[in-house]
Amino acid sequence: MKKLIDEITEVVTKAFVENGYDEKYGKVTVSNRPDLCEYQCNGAMAAAKEYKCAPFMISDKIAESLSGSEMFSAVESVKPGFLNMTLSPEYVAKYMNRMKEDDRFGCEKDPNPKTIIVDYGGPNVAKPLHVGHLRSAIIGESIKRIARYMGHNAIGDVHLGDWGLQMGLIITELKERKPDLCYFDEAYEGEYPEEAPFTLSELEEIYPTASGKSKEDETFKNAALDATNELQQGRRGYRALLKHILDISIPDLTKNYANLNVSFELWKGEKDAAPYIPDMVQMLKDKGFAHISEGALVVDVKEETDSKEIPPCIILKSDGSSLYATTDLATMVWRMQDYNPDAMIYLADKRQELHFIQCFRTAKKTGIVNEDTDLTFIGFGTMNGKDGKPFKTREGGVMRLENLVNDVNEEMYQKISENRKSKEDLDISEEEARETSKKIALAAIKYGDLSNQTVKDYIFDIDRFTSFEGNTGPYILYTIVRIKSILAKYEATGKNPDAAGEILPSVNASEKKLNLAIAGFAGAIQSAYTEKAPHKICAYIYELAEAFNGFYHETKILSEEDEARQLSFIKELQLTRDILLTCIDLLGFEAPERM
Ligand code: ARG
Repeated sequence: MKKLIDEITEVVTKAFVENGYDEKYGKVTVSNRPDLCEYQCNGAMAAAKEYKCAPFMISDKIAESLSGSEMFSAVESVKPGFLNMTLSPEYVAKYMNRMKEDDRFGCEKDPNPKTIIVDYGGPNVAKPLHVGHLRSAIIGESIKRIARYMGHNAIGDVHLGDWGLQMGLIITELKERKPDLCYFDEAYEGEYPEEAPFTLSELEEIYPTASGKSKEDETFKNAALDATNELQQGRRGYRALLKHILDISIPDLTKNYANLNVSFELWKGEKDAAPYIPDMVQMLKDKGFAHISEGALVVDVKEETDSKEIPPCIILKSDGSSLYATTDLATMVWRMQDYNPDAMIYLADKRQELHFIQCFRTAKKTGIVNEDTDLTFIGFGTMNGKDGKPFKTREGGVMRLENLVNDVNEEMYQKISENRKSKEDLDISEEEARETSKKIALAAIKYGDLSNQTVKDYIFDIDRFTSFEGNTGPYILYTIVRIKSILAKYEATGKNPDAAGEILPSVNASEKKLNLAIAGFAGAIQSAYTEKAPHKICAYIYELAEAFNGFYHETKILSEEDEARQLSFIKELQLTRDILLTCIDLLGFEAPERM
């Protein structure tokens, strides 16, 4: 089934062609003057140049041709040559009925399904997840879900940071604390213990301590660099320590991501790229792509059209150890080999843009990926506190993701509890209140993030995000719950909301507005997909929720006496509910039964 706007464009285009004008002039857009009309076509303005006449002569003819069409209740030709169109309620009702019968509400899958690897999350093992990783997880998960909904095979890869200096820092600090452990004994040939020589909380304390030391103590830093290199070169004891670190960190990461309704198909890390590095480096040397510069092995990636300096991509440091770009490139090697993806999408802080430009150029130019492999970097802005600076704890430290989520859960729980008290008749149990507040809190966090354009910084404002009014996640959930409750009341009167019935032509402006909002579903999802922009879905559901609430306030649904009319309202409610539920699933959150 076609998108509404495409159906309208088709009819208008036909009118242009029948009047002897080129089909390209028939393009229709949503009106930017909703006070005047619903849709508009400005084609006559452009056509006038080609056909050398006044634009309104063309728009007059088109309006005349369209006047008989059952699609419109009004088509006006407005000087100097615009076409203003209003859809007929009958046509819109027909469109609604087709949407109602389609389990994708008229949103067709992409006819050319692609394999897309979405590289998001990017946590660094042994460091607790902090708010800096929140955006990557939230946006990446949504982009993956949207791609899947469009019919693509989207695979999420967490791409753990587990091969860099942070590993060397941990190893060095551990060695200072417990030098007698067998991991540090180079002569040791036996099996390493199953049990790690540290707990998760120790690990989380070791890293910041070590990182602090390395900033002040040159010797410590050099030891960490050496340890990193030795780990990468395969020193047995260090590899065994890395395995312990991963075994301890991954379950904790999984749990934290699960709390965010985020999951990954692949739990690969930088270290999984390591086996591919030697051959890749050899290839880069053999084919003459890489050369030595100041001791390091680099690939030049600057291009003539660059407006700013793009430095070479460093493949190996002078001591032979690999860097961030090395593992990213070698990761592309195994991804191409194992999945042959059509596209790879990366999510990271927008300050990493240069790194991705360097990697992507290297990968393309050296044939690590194919010429037509689509490589996209989605750089996101910073989540700031109310002071406009990167979000911190009250004490000014880095906020752990876990604590942030708990804070919002608690805030939501307080709100729900107040509601509970004021509605004594609602027998919500403590358990349900906790569950419900978790769901709303997640919606508050995710919607608060996703409703912003990805590249922009935004302010994490817990009061605004958790509000049940305005452009917020809780408002969307509240709308869904309200619809569910009306449907339940309808059913309680002994009527069946799922009985066969048609959506009838709308009776008033607010119902028409709701219908048009419903009809916008496919367009919203498709543009969210092509532009990799979940905020388009947020904008869409906010419009839909507003249209629904407007309709609800102006329409007596449950006391409507005309049964067919009432059932038509019910069908519209169901469509609205189902579309909202589909959309929030694409954004990665859920609605409670009641709130
Ligand atoms: N671990 C990195 C960080 O914390 C993010 C990884 C992004 N993905 C990638 N393939 N480089 O900054």
